[in-house]
Amino acid sequence: MAIPSAKGVFDILPHAQEDWRDSGLWAYLEGVIRTLAERYCFGEIRTPLFERTELFNRGVGTTSDIVSKEMYTFEDRAGRSMSLRPEGTAPVARAYIEHHLEQSGTLQKLFYISSMFRYERQQAGRYRQHHQFGAEIIGGAAAGLDAELIDLLWTLLMTLGLKGLTLHLNSLGDVQARQLFRTHLQDYLRPHLKELSSDSQERFAANPLRILDSKAPQDRAILQEAPSILDFLQPECAEHFSQVQMSLKTLNIPFVINPQLVRGLDYYNRTVFEITANELGAQNSLGGGGRYDSLMQELGGPDVPALGFGAGLERILQTMIAQKAFFPPPPHPKLLLIPLGAEATAMCMALAKDLRQKFPVEIDHSGKKLKASLKMADALGAEFVAVIGENEMKTGVCEVKQMATHTSRTLKLEELDHV
Ligand code: HAM
Repeated sequence: MAIPSAKGVFDILPHAQEDWRDSGLWAYLEGVIRTLAERYCFGEIRTPLFERTELFNRGVGTTSDIVSKEMYTFEDRAGRSMSLRPEGTAPVARAYIEHHLEQSGTLQKLFYISSMFRYERQQAGRYRQHHQFGAEIIGGAAAGLDAELIDLLWTLLMTLGLKGLTLHLNSLGDVQARQLFRTHLQDYLRPHLKELSSDSQERFAANPLRILDSKAPQDRAILQEAPSILDFLQPECAEHFSQVQMSLKTLNIPFVINPQLVRGLDYYNRTVFEITANELGAQNSLGGGGRYDSLMQELGGPDVPALGFGAGLERILQTMIAQKAFFPPPPHPKLLLIPLGAEATAMCMALAKDLRQKFPVEIDHSGKKLKASLKMADALGAEFVAVIGENEMKTGVCEVKQMATHTSRTLKLEELDHV
């Protein structure tokens, strides 16, 4: 019996056109990301696929769903607890500390395109292995950085031609503001506790802020009148938040203030943001992030402020397909060589080796009849075909047929690079 792939994962294949799992689309998206990351002066970081579990417990927080319910945790052969990375920020923070990157004296701007692992309940838009474009800026407190970081993600999505997106913006203030707000929120929710969804009831004691981004209709109704964290910000945080908004306006990036945006990871403070697309249904977040100014210190590193975002490549591609955004045409051979016989095959291989310095060339090794070879040319999307047999080898010239126009011209074998 054949063995199927595990639940919640997928393969990315060539020539799966119109499907977001087409490797050509992934390569295109990754290319746009790399170009843009370079323009914004981010350097690439690659961290290991797994880390000590403790890093995520301390970094992301044990009250987050990601750590408490969704991690792929295992013991290695020496009995140490390891986890597949569920997100990229804690590993980047670990690497920053481990390599003393603060000693460079400059801001560290790092990006990654990496797979993440979360044991999610199966539903559209949620995978157990997903891929993120992440960007982290470590060592800067200026509000302008928040706006530039958001601009990077916004510009990426605009470059890809996406429309109808919403940028949600909020500030979670500092620890004092959150503590005060937490008490007020609990006071507000307490009389409604029994009416809340079971998930929210569970969160009430340990992580009441997360109730704010619950999607359950009964919770939404209760939350309409909930207090706003923005009323609890200290003057410094309020000033930072207003500067971020001013910078976004300067950059012509539209946003909505959403005081109920809290994000699912525990390390955030001050600015948090998320970009959503209508096409995605319940899992509508294309990407999100914010400031995490105390994470470095909490992980035993220097006291440096930081901020970042993660954006899901699956969801970006799905939205591009739903919105019929531009994709480059799939790659195809420019020339298909059809040899007749063993000697011609050898010659075609030598020819192809040279021509491949210039453009994609395929050889039909099937030995089938010409009709089948021409069918193959169509299936491959080859632009030109040339049949090479005894006669062509003797005369050193061949007929090159253009598939689209059904016209042919005669070319010397050594001039095939002029097709
Ligand atoms: P996150 O919101 O958990 O943030 O994930 C970032 C993005 O990854 C989401 O907006 C979504 O597009 C995608 N994503 C998350 N989980 C899944 C899933 N199971 N299947 C498909 N796509 C998914 C973080 O991970 C933070 N580390 C972001 C960050 C970086 N904050 C600061 N720096």
